[in-house]
Amino acid sequence: MQPQFHVCVTLGTRPEAIKLAPVIHLFRNNPQFQTSVVLTGQHREMVEQVMQLFDLKADYDLGIMRPKQTLTEITCNSLIGLENLYKEIQPNIVLVQGDTTTAFAAALAAFYQQIPIGHVEAGLRTDNLFNPFPEEANRRLVSQIAQLHFAPTTASVANLQTSGVKEGIHHTGNTVIDALLYVSGRSPKCEIKGLDWSSHRVILATVHRRENWGQPLEQIIQAWLLILAEFPDVALVLPMHMNPVVREPLIAKLGNHPRIFLVEPLDYEQLVGAMQHCYLIMSDSGGLQEEAPSLGKPVLVLRTTTERPEAVAAGTSKLVGTDTQEIVAAASKLLGDRNAYEQMANIANPFGDGKSSQRILDIVHEFLA
Ligand code: UD1
Repeated sequence: MQPQFHVCVTLGTRPEAIKLAPVIHLFRNNPQFQTSVVLTGQHREMVEQVMQLFDLKADYDLGIMRPKQTLTEITCNSLIGLENLYKEIQPNIVLVQGDTTTAFAAALAAFYQQIPIGHVEAGLRTDNLFNPFPEEANRRLVSQIAQLHFAPTTASVANLQTSGVKEGIHHTGNTVIDALLYVSGRSPKCEIKGLDWSSHRVILATVHRRENWGQPLEQIIQAWLLILAEFPDVALVLPMHMNPVVREPLIAKLGNHPRIFLVEPLDYEQLVGAMQHCYLIMSDSGGLQEEAPSLGKPVLVLRTTTERPEAVAAGTSKLVGTDTQEIVAAASKLLGDRNAYEQMANIANPFGDGKSSQRILDIVHEFLA
């Protein structure tokens, strides 16, 4: 059977790869579609790991990553590279995910060629254009030029309507749950040299956001040191982002503590293993807030805003900000009060049921047909 439609999935960073992997799999296994996967190359190592885990190969890689790249460089290099590519391969639709600069540039490049855009994980919003920066602007801009909006929750559907989007909104759930269920079913492990998971309560922590660089990160680091001093049975596992701006202060301040394990970015399977075996998660990542409820783990969100109020409303995560004392107080409560912990740990996941990718494929098929 000759494929009827050509779908081009464009991505650049690790979270996009995780959340699009189940979507790509379904499209590739459907003979009605020719599926091209394009990497901008915004990230290199961190995307390669995910592609390998899901057994995916990209068809094109623009290879734009540079050390300490600026947002302008990412945008311009992606835009120019994608314009040439879209002209050459002429897809019927371009799928982008989320709110990265890759997602924004790919949507704009498709728009300039008048190719329809499908936006996976559409409609997330904070009420602050500058937080998270630049993601809040990226996702709002994509919403204005996309034709299909795959909203993970009813709250994101409502956000799209408030943003003036009239057509093409579909409530699909978040594809991250599809990816998580696939990986957690493989009984993933996370082995870290020197750490015995059974003899410690482990806090799994990540931090990378631009609005946390500098002073907020210093405050977060201080909080971790105070928490470890107060609870001698607690260890901190901290997979570090590749960005040197984030790594350097972490290594300088936390590198020598016997119960702190600074490790290279974990591949997604190990990360899921770490989530399953940890006691508590502290993070500024969005994906972890979505995944943790499926694994029964509370999340303290190291940010002042969240575009995932569903998790806070459901009670599985708590927005603690970046003030040292606030972070210590929230963590101490979960480490010291079993009831408070249980209340956050046993809640149904508000973000999806693992069938989002299939819904997206069906909607794209109907749109193109
Ligand atoms: C990007 C996204 C952010 C997403 C995050 C997930 C934007 C503006 N930001 O932020 O929304 O949450 O990815 O990780 O799109 N680096 C490497 N190797 C890699 C990846 C990164 O060396 O595989 C280093 C490079 O020095 C690079 C730096 O990390 O300059 C920052 O990468 P960049 O993509 O600009 O921003 P992130 O903070 O990763």
